[in-house]
Amino acid sequence: MGLSHPHGGALVNRIDFEYDYSRLSKEIELDGFALSDLELIAVGAYSPLTGFMGEADYLNVLEQMRLENGLVWSIPITLPVAEETADQLEIGEKIRLLHDGTVYGILELKEKYVPNKQLEAEKIYRTTDLAHPGVHKLFERPNVYLAGPVTMVKRPKKSKFQQFYLDPDETRNAFIQKGWKTVVGFQTRNPVHRAHEYIQKTALEIVDGLFLNPLVGETKSDDIPADVRMESYQVLLKNYYPQDRVFLAVFPAAMRYAGPREAIFHALVRKNYGCTHFIVGRDHAGVGNYYGTYDAQLIFHHFTHGDLGITPLFFEHSFYCNKCGNMASTKTCPHGNENRLILSGTKVREMLKRGEAPPPEFSRPEVVDVLIRGMKVQTGTTF
Ligand code: ADX
Repeated sequence: MGLSHPHGGALVNRIDFEYDYSRLSKEIELDGFALSDLELIAVGAYSPLTGFMGEADYLNVLEQMRLENGLVWSIPITLPVAEETADQLEIGEKIRLLHDGTVYGILELKEKYVPNKQLEAEKIYRTTDLAHPGVHKLFERPNVYLAGPVTMVKRPKKSKFQQFYLDPDETRNAFIQKGWKTVVGFQTRNPVHRAHEYIQKTALEIVDGLFLNPLVGETKSDDIPADVRMESYQVLLKNYYPQDRVFLAVFPAAMRYAGPREAIFHALVRKNYGCTHFIVGRDHAGVGNYYGTYDAQLIFHHFTHGDLGITPLFFEHSFYCNKCGNMASTKTCPHGNENRLILSGTKVREMLKRGEAPPPEFSRPEVVDVLIRGMKVQTGTTF
């Protein structure tokens, strides 16, 4: 057994720093969300996508969770622009893609279409409630989608944690160098608490390596900022993990909060980074009470192993049990809730903001130190 093949068979590479775009007259401004999608397409993290989705793929993804060619894909990757902007663009044109005045990519415009956002919200988020951060974002972005292949001509600046930005070809090489034949991917938008650690280490008992792959793109404003989290991951790995069995690199995507649909998407992308296995725990990529605790696991039953090409590892809700005297889950602990230490993300964030440390059974003290310090000096910057 070797590393997983990329989705669709080959890693996409749409980077060309030599691309001469000086004679192109049209340009559009991307938001941060679209810029991160552009980069993830270009480096092959979204293989087999080579650009922003056309209407046929988009509708197929909404209705069938598949691209037109039959490959599984669960989240639309689209480029929304305002109607006035779209009206000025001709099909067949090449368009410069800018962010804050810098050219990062080129779009070969194949299609423009008006999406049915109501349908998109229902299918992808299972709700049209604007209080859902993913739905809110969907409706906040403009109303015409542009589609076509892209080329990235410049990589966005990475600032502080440069060394943890690795493309799929680089993570694959790193796994091969380490001699890993099985690698489990772990998605997170949070600090790694004891429950996360428990499920990661349980997985590590059966695979060669753990790919800790925190999402560091756009998240909702009350999530803990990525730079604080990055520090917390490093201190945790240094103190509590065998160095030769873990690998930390970031996933620079925006968080959709699409629960089940996003779990499939997260798994496929981690396959592209080289993972053979992927952890899906309780309420993966969920927010509020929009999804059932295990909906993000149940959705995997729609697909065969051949469809996905990566093995999901499902974990029950995990916690520290005072009676057991260790981490456990509902599958392994016979005791009642009164013995279990369960704190919500909101509660923990409030504690940290007040400078209050959650107990060591919930979070490693070294991690808590970093988080409390980070929340104090936090100036609202992400990276
Ligand atoms: S997510 O939005 O990135 O999924 P989070 O960082 O909280 O959120 O979760 C990362 C992964 O750990 C997800 O697979 C999630 O299901 C899982 N997870 C989080 N907390 C627990 C827990 N207490 N028990 C089991 N799995 C958990």
